[in-house]
Amino acid sequence: MIPTLEEAQIILEKYNKEDFHLRHASVVSGVMRYFAKKHDPERSEYWAVVGLLHDIDFEIYPDEHCVKGEELLRENGVDESIIRAAMSHGFGIVPTPHEPTHIMEKILFAADELTGLIGAAALMRPSKSTLDLEVSSVKKKYKDKKFAAGCSRDVINSGAEKLGWTLDELIGETILAMRTLE
Ligand SMILES: [Fe+2]
Repeated sequence: MIPTLEEAQIILEKYNKEDFHLRHASVVSGVMRYFAKKHDPERSEYWAVVGLLHDIDFEIYPDEHCVKGEELLRENGVDESIIRAAMSHGFGIVPTPHEPTHIMEKILFAADELTGLIGAAALMRPSKSTLDLEVSSVKKKYKDKKFAAGCSRDVINSGAEKLGWTLDELIGETILAMRTLE
């Protein structure tokens, strides 16, 4: 089945209890919805569902990321196309066979880690918001390897490359996407 966003949230909450993970899922979901409006407007709910479910296994099975996720989604009767799209964000990082090919999958791959970096950069501002956050200040943080060190620059770079976007374009668009969630 292709779950609605509400149904996907119920599935997500079976395996995710921590605020950090629930918040990340909802940020990535909202970011995917923003990008869908530009690239695939008729399927924006679908993109949002993929974003919501992409890390479903990470709280309980961090060492089997994307492999367990595939199982959990299948057990819940989630459509194979969503499983594929959601798990492809781990391609080349964890042992998942699904390579990002559709623009939705490439955007998920590129924006996932970047939302963490942008969120951390926003928190450094007096406003604690992305509304007055500029590409240049995110780039500065991006170059500082110690800042939000858990957000892999290699993955972000490789995501921009897959999309054929510059890093500035990717960061700029992802900031705009995150502003819609403020
Ligand atoms: Fe993620």
